[in-house]
Amino acid sequence: MNPKFEYKPFSVVWLLQIHPHDEAEKRVLQNEHHQEKACKYYRCALSIAIIIALLLCVLASQLLLFPFLFVTSQTITETVLNKDIRCDDQCRFVLVESIPEGLVYDANSTINPSIFKSWLNILTNAKSSVDIASFYWTLTNEDTQTQEPSAHQGELILEELLKLKQRGVTLRVAVNPPNSPLRSRDISALKDSGADVRVVDLPKLTDGVLHTKFWVVDNEHFYIGSANMDWRSLTQVKELGATIYNCSCLAQDLKKIFEAYWILGLPNATLPSPWPVNYSTPYNKDTPMQVNLNSTASEVYLSSSPPPLLAAGRTDDLQSIINIIDDAKQFVYISVMDYSPTVEFSHPLRYWPDIDNHLRKAIYERNVHVCLLISCWQSSRPSMFTFLRSLAALYSNKSNYNIEVKIFVVPATEAQKKIPYARVNHNKYMVTDRVAYIGTSNWSGNYFIHTAGSALVVNQTQSAGTSDTIQMQLQAVFERDWNSNYSLAFNALSSWKEKCIF
Ligand SMILES: *[C@@H]1O[C@H](CO)[C@@H](O)[C@H](O)[C@H]1NC(C)=O
Ligand SMILES: *[C@@H]1O[C@H](CO)[C@@H](O)[C@H](O)[C@H]1NC(C)=O
Ligand SMILES: *[C@@H]1O[C@H](CO)[C@@H](O)[C@H](O)[C@H]1NC(C)=O
Ligand SMILES: *[C@@H]1O[C@H](CO)[C@@H](O)[C@H](O)[C@H]1NC(C)=O
Ligand SMILES: *[C@@H]1O[C@H](CO)[C@@H](O)[C@H](O)[C@H]1NC(C)=O
Ligand SMILES: *[C@@H]1O[C@H](CO)[C@@H](O)[C@H](O)[C@H]1NC(C)=O
Ligand SMILES: *[C@@H]1O[C@H](CO)[C@@H](O)[C@H](O)[C@H]1NC(C)=O
Ligand SMILES: *[C@@H]1O[C@H](CO)[C@@H](O)[C@H](O)[C@H]1NC(C)=O
Ligand SMILES: *[C@@H]1O[C@H](CO)[C@@H](O)[C@H](O)[C@H]1NC(C)=O
Repeated sequence: MNPKFEYKPFSVVWLLQIHPHDEAEKRVLQNEHHQEKACKYYRCALSIAIIIALLLCVLASQLLLFPFLFVTSQTITETVLNKDIRCDDQCRFVLVESIPEGLVYDANSTINPSIFKSWLNILTNAKSSVDIASFYWTLTNEDTQTQEPSAHQGELILEELLKLKQRGVTLRVAVNPPNSPLRSRDISALKDSGADVRVVDLPKLTDGVLHTKFWVVDNEHFYIGSANMDWRSLTQVKELGATIYNCSCLAQDLKKIFEAYWILGLPNATLPSPWPVNYSTPYNKDTPMQVNLNSTASEVYLSSSPPPLLAAGRTDDLQSIINIIDDAKQFVYISVMDYSPTVEFSHPLRYWPDIDNHLRKAIYERNVHVCLLISCWQSSRPSMFTFLRSLAALYSNKSNYNIEVKIFVVPATEAQKKIPYARVNHNKYMVTDRVAYIGTSNWSGNYFIHTAGSALVVNQTQSAGTSDTIQMQLQAVFERDWNSNYSLAFNALSSWKEKCIF
């Protein structure tokens, strides 16, 4: 996977070719010398002896040097590889959330900084570049044809983005093709402000959408998570993400994913196969980056989907999820908007048990405690609840099959219910007793086969005993939601419709 492995065979070939060549030249020179001065017999014999000795030396040195240099080059390669995987940055990791207005937790509940403040912070401090991968843009009331005071935060973010060019900061935006003129307004404004915008026709390229949501700022800081470039994602939809500061190694690795979208945004772009080597990464589930996050030694990598967008070395997002589920020893807590073992929108219909099988396996083989916190709103599909009931039915206290499913319902006033596509838990993360996973995809087949998404995986098991790990913070978020009165036990619902359709 690592291109640096490749110079090993080259160095061996180089040694084999150059040394005999040098000796041949020496011999030619010596021959000329002998022809000039007619040599005496003993001198000739001496010369021949020297030449033979030299030839033997070359042969012996090659025999001796060959294994020696082979070992040395291998050691060098390993050193380079280890150095590659270690990163000296002192990264700051902040878990960030949008909690919809009117959703109130008990006193003393876990509270994280808001996505809005974190976006504003990285934008106002941006010095040279901002790169944004996005699904769609509706940051203003006009875009959604609403008059909501809570659109203010989104409008402020757009204002800051429009000011970047004047400040000498380049802004690049990769976006899925807008499906309505209302969703083109912010994009036009950005273009007018001097931003580079590329529409990535993923529907044409992979039959999916560009669903990824992340920012890379100054090649050093980044945000990744569930929030769209939508004012509702800041005040009306429940979102979770991570903002990482002072972390150039990871930011540059995320930028490689961005560059892949960027090149696919060129007119008439086609999918490269394979991807050029400069898109490849040494960081993946098998060789994660070793870096300090908030002074805690961590193993981190970024996964991506769908497979046709992956360069060498990148872990496929689905494989990352499966790997984390298989690695769990005690529990797997999942908070996703949609969960379904199907490929939606496929004709003919297609069953897709890839994730479901690994959850059932963890429950059956290792008695891992699996909790699913799923969302429910007017756009939820009925089949999702049928499959959730099937998973929840595996529960058996007697056999120690420990699976629970809950539905998280974001409360809404009559006025809030009128805001289109809002008031829902849009989180997309998983936390196990070992690992934190923060993603951008719903958990159903379509998202891993066709749609572009990405995720950040943080493993701090090597720092066990540390007081405040990312895994612990994410677990606290899950437990806060799971135990809140907004989560309803699935088995207790007589009909999901009674709670979800409003
Ligand atoms: C949940 O609890 C909060 C305060 O703890 C309360 O204000 C809210 O009405 C409750 N919501 C539901 C759905 O019971
Ligand atoms: C919140 O925490 C404080 C200090 O730990 C405690 O005194 C208080 O009773 C807690 N409140 C609730 C509602 O749990
Ligand atoms: C990032 O590093 C700079 C320079 O060392 C420092 O001033 C800043 O506070 C750091 N940012 C965070 C969020 O730690
Ligand atoms: C790889 O190299 C090409 C050609 O120089 C460049 O256009 C592209 O942006 C590079 N990609 C990355 C990820 O650096
Ligand atoms: C893209 O393809 C269309 C239709 O095949 C063609 O008219 C157009 O010139 C192409 N554009 C570029 C930049 O190659
Ligand atoms: C987490 O790190 C530990 C220790 O390095 C490793 O054994 C384990 O496989 C990792 N888990 C995942 C899911 O990457
Ligand atoms: C589950 O089994 C344990 C003993 O194995 C028992 O103490 C507990 O009450 C049972 N829980 C339920 C919900 O039946
Ligand atoms: C998946 O997520 C997107 C937004 O992130 C949402 O609009 C969509 O309805 C979700 N579900 C499906 C099945 O696409
Ligand atoms: C990391 O440090 C930042 C700033 O000091 C803090 O806000 C954040 O909560 C810390 N994160 C973790 C996981 O400890």
